[in-house]
Amino acid sequence: MAIDLRSDTVTKPSQGMREAISRASVGDDVYGDDPTVNSLEERVAALFGKEAGLFTSTGSLANQLAIRMLVAPGEELIAETNSHIVRAELGAAAVFSGITTRTWPAEHGLLKAEDALGIARPDSGPYLVSTTAIAVENTHNFGGGTVQPLSEIAALRKGADAMGLALHLDGARIWNAHIATGVSFAEYGKYFDTISVCLSKGLGAPVGSIMLSTKERVSKARVWRKRYGAGMRQVGILAAAGHYALDNNIERLAEDHRRAKELAVAIAAIDSTLIDPATVTTNIVGLDLAKITLSAAELAQRCRDAGLWISALGPKYARLVTHMDFDNTQHSEAVEILKRALVPK
Ligand SMILES: Cc1ncc(COP(=O)(O)O)c(C=O)c1O
Repeated sequence: MAIDLRSDTVTKPSQGMREAISRASVGDDVYGDDPTVNSLEERVAALFGKEAGLFTSTGSLANQLAIRMLVAPGEELIAETNSHIVRAELGAAAVFSGITTRTWPAEHGLLKAEDALGIARPDSGPYLVSTTAIAVENTHNFGGGTVQPLSEIAALRKGADAMGLALHLDGARIWNAHIATGVSFAEYGKYFDTISVCLSKGLGAPVGSIMLSTKERVSKARVWRKRYGAGMRQVGILAAAGHYALDNNIERLAEDHRRAKELAVAIAAIDSTLIDPATVTTNIVGLDLAKITLSAAELAQRCRDAGLWISALGPKYARLVTHMDFDNTQHSEAVEILKRALVPK
């Protein structure tokens, strides 16, 4: 069987999770009657110190509902150049909400508050687009799973308050940030007006994200979720998987982080221009192929031919993501395959 390191979304629900799904109490969630969804929304909101939560089918939907609550049509959201909201949600902010975006670049996606605040232009009058919110991604996917420094998040909040700007956290992998740093979810939560978290990335649930904010914003977002056709019915069977994921799969992320680091060390030993292992602090290993002749697509193909699936996300950028279905045996095999694939032919 192929070793699949394209993403941490490729995991399959474990036996224990499937059993939790089969036991779930359910009701019609559009009527607010699903007890498992309700308890999951309340649980995750409490974890991050927020008033309310909204279960969504995807992280993209949770992000899009959240930013819609913060930014009016014709106003601007600013975000890091390679953030998921800007690069990988297919223009949803513009298409669905009339939101324009502007970006600042950051090495490895790492937040520097002054860079973000430096491009913010609130209250820009009748000719220029006004900035109303800033999005932060933690961990940063295309930055290589990097964890945002808490001091920069705090500085961003301070600056945003001074400028009257709202902050959104794309916390699809906030679980990984917590495991890497020990910073509590409530601590992360307190800096942001809206948050999205995903249960279907490293935590192994098949589906599910939660948007978090005030009761008022969440109840407005509930209407928009339905308007988008994304109200779901007896969806407690999926929320049960979310509960199971929170109960069982957060602490074990440390294993994914260890394996990602080991992969990075092994790859750097083959060619140190590809990755600096010091930059790998969670479960994502981003390879910069700029200094070698192989393209990311060629490397991915060589690996695939040998039974290892990785992502080519740019002409010279490849990504490997460790996850709960990647074990020690596969780990040793993956290192061997990478060694052979990276040798010039
Ligand atoms: C940082 C980040 N945010 C949001 C998403 C969107 O999640 P989904 O694929 O569930 O829409 C992803 C997906 O990989 C992600 O990496």
